[in-house]
Amino acid sequence: MALLIKLFLTVFILASATVIVTVTADDYVRPQPRKALHLPWDSKLSSYPQQVHISLSGDKHIRVSWITDDKSAPSVVEYGTSPGKYDSFAQGETTSYSYVLYSSGKIHHVLIGPLEHNSVYFYRCGRQGPEFQLKTPPAQLPITFAVAGDLGQTGWTKSTLSHIDRCNYDVHLLPGDLAYADYIQHRWDTFGRLVQPLASSRPWMVTQGNHEVESIPLLKDGFVSYNSRWKMPFEESGSSSNLYYSFEVAGVHVIMLGSYADYDEYSEQYSWLKEDLLKVDRKKTPWLVVLFHVPWYNSNTAHQGEGDDMMKAMEPLLYAASVDLVFAGHVHAYERSRRVYNRRVDPCGAVHITIGDGGNKEGLAAKYINPQPKWSEFREASFGHGELKIVNSTHAFWSWHRNDDDEPVKSDDIWITSLVSSGCISRKRNELADTLTTP
Ligand SMILES: *[C@@H]1O[C@H](CO)[C@@H](O)[C@H](O)[C@H]1NC(C)=O
Repeated sequence: MALLIKLFLTVFILASATVIVTVTADDYVRPQPRKALHLPWDSKLSSYPQQVHISLSGDKHIRVSWITDDKSAPSVVEYGTSPGKYDSFAQGETTSYSYVLYSSGKIHHVLIGPLEHNSVYFYRCGRQGPEFQLKTPPAQLPITFAVAGDLGQTGWTKSTLSHIDRCNYDVHLLPGDLAYADYIQHRWDTFGRLVQPLASSRPWMVTQGNHEVESIPLLKDGFVSYNSRWKMPFEESGSSSNLYYSFEVAGVHVIMLGSYADYDEYSEQYSWLKEDLLKVDRKKTPWLVVLFHVPWYNSNTAHQGEGDDMMKAMEPLLYAASVDLVFAGHVHAYERSRRVYNRRVDPCGAVHITIGDGGNKEGLAAKYINPQPKWSEFREASFGHGELKIVNSTHAFWSWHRNDDDEPVKSDDIWITSLVSSGCISRKRNELADTLTTP
């Protein structure tokens, strides 16, 4: 009996040891999701500007957006290059919306410019309230993008935002799922206040995710709140919808697609994409980057196959145009692919990066399909953000920073060389012309 107990204990201790070894080999114990932040309303004057954020809008112009409770507050931005001295001003447009029992404040959008590149401007909204400071992006490479999707408004969002704030970046790229308002409209307001310190100082370029839809059959069309609040430069890029657009900054052509807009070959988005790709001049913008919400290359069990239809319709266009990099969100984890096309590793395909791990309330997607597909080079379910430094026409440095508790820890990094420098583009020139010009 004693022997049996001893044997049993030994097995038990061995088993425990194995568990401990497994945990250390895995070397990182993933933290739990965090609660939604409680962001109480301040009792400021109703004309006080809130939720200030900026976005790029054509060459040398920036759109300043904010909200006031007061419907008669002026839509004016005063700005200049020294604090407190505003030698320029611009007037803009306003909108508002109602949603079941909720009515939004007055939403102001004002275009300012022309602005100098790579310069700091000081500005004030609606002739009152605090002074904000923004930095315009550089005219030429290098440029640094911060990338984080599926943000939400939890303790992890706050931690991700504080890490992004410490990085020296020029433009924030967000591949969908902003506020996680999920029909509760005042959550759009609390999100606007949470991101204001960052979004008022660097352009935030966003595209939509499923949490932006908020449609109610027979009652409300989709994207009412998103389109009113997060107006992007779609008109400036020849698009008829805020759900897809493009912009150029410092040698990079960025295309924001809509996973929740029609994308088949008869759709407006498809025709617009073809035309936009034909306009890309790789001498002027050697890098071509695309963002949308639902990933095409995803080896996580979450949202498996959801991007397949869009991929089938649009991947040949992106391939023909030699897109360098694709960012997606949706899956709450990080994954980076090798250059890939049609599910095969292909030196002329795009690098696909899923970065839906900004910190929302739904938590992480931790289960992966095994074995890891050949095209998948790195995958990990942790919260975090990415930084893309495009150094020159041939080299970019990508890094992913995991929120290790509350410290950002660089966990994946890689030098990416552009397709411009690879010989792929000249080889594909005819193919591109054929694919893109076929009606
Ligand atoms: C581009 O940057 C990379 C990395 O810093 C460097 O090795 C390369 O020489 C640069 N190319 C040019 C043309 O400056």
